[in-house]
Amino acid sequence: MPSVQAHYEQLLGPVYTWMAGGWDAAVTRNRAMLDALGLATWPRGVAVDLGCGSGFQAIPLADAGFEVVALDLCEPLLAELRDRTGTRPICAVQDDLLNFGTHFDGEAALIVCMGDTLTHLASVEAVVALICDAAARLSIGGRLVLGFRDLATHELKGAQRFIPVRSESDRIFTCFLDYRPHHVEVNDLVHTRDGEHWRLATSAYRKLRLTAAQVSALITDAGLTLEHAATEQGAVRIVGVKRLPPSLS
Ligand SMILES: C[S@@+](CC[C@H](N)C(=O)[O-])C[C@H]1O[C@@H](n2cnc3c(N)ncnc32)[C@H](O)[C@@H]1O
Repeated sequence: MPSVQAHYEQLLGPVYTWMAGGWDAAVTRNRAMLDALGLATWPRGVAVDLGCGSGFQAIPLADAGFEVVALDLCEPLLAELRDRTGTRPICAVQDDLLNFGTHFDGEAALIVCMGDTLTHLASVEAVVALICDAAARLSIGGRLVLGFRDLATHELKGAQRFIPVRSESDRIFTCFLDYRPHHVEVNDLVHTRDGEHWRLATSAYRKLRLTAAQVSALITDAGLTLEHAATEQGAVRIVGVKRLPPSLS
């Protein structure tokens, strides 16, 4: 099975923004989601976007007054973000998100890992390490915002596992999910029309099966206060806030 990086470089990166419904719709959706989570009230400063893709969160965060450090492994998606950055204060870096702490000095006011990036990590141990590192680098009042798909609670069966993601006259994107005890093998199928014929490109990668309760517990174990945790149609959103220890408040 290809690595996550190879999967994005070879298959998903070039069609990612289209697959997500197109740039304008995806940014509008993410801006609204961040607003609903309380963006207007969060302290400003450095925001770290872990697994930024083409920038569906980075752009709204910069527009809202954050200085954004955006990390991703996929160079084509980073190039797309740089093209769309304009004069916004966004530094787009190609690196493993687990190394995020080496790309800014001091503390972050906000760390986001959204759009189902968390499930790309290799193990639950990596998720624990990331959340602990994030909690350690947040300023007091800073937030850790996680958004991912719960692939653990409700397992699709039989033909339900074929998911029509997006289609138009010249391209069809379908996903097939193969459930394993601790992860799901995600098979992406992209049909592209080539004159009278259709070409099929395929690639697969693994996603962790995480629940909202499990990740919420990791947030509180890391010393953050749970501000928000909700699951809507399988989409989990969690916000943890760093408070002063009771002895100092
Ligand atoms: C599902 S996309 C989400 C992108 C963006 N946050 C969004 O909401 O559209 C996951 C992104 O994480 C990146 N990624 C996955 N594992 C990574 C890692 N270990 N380090 C850096 N980026 C990673 C992928 O290249 C991809 O761009």
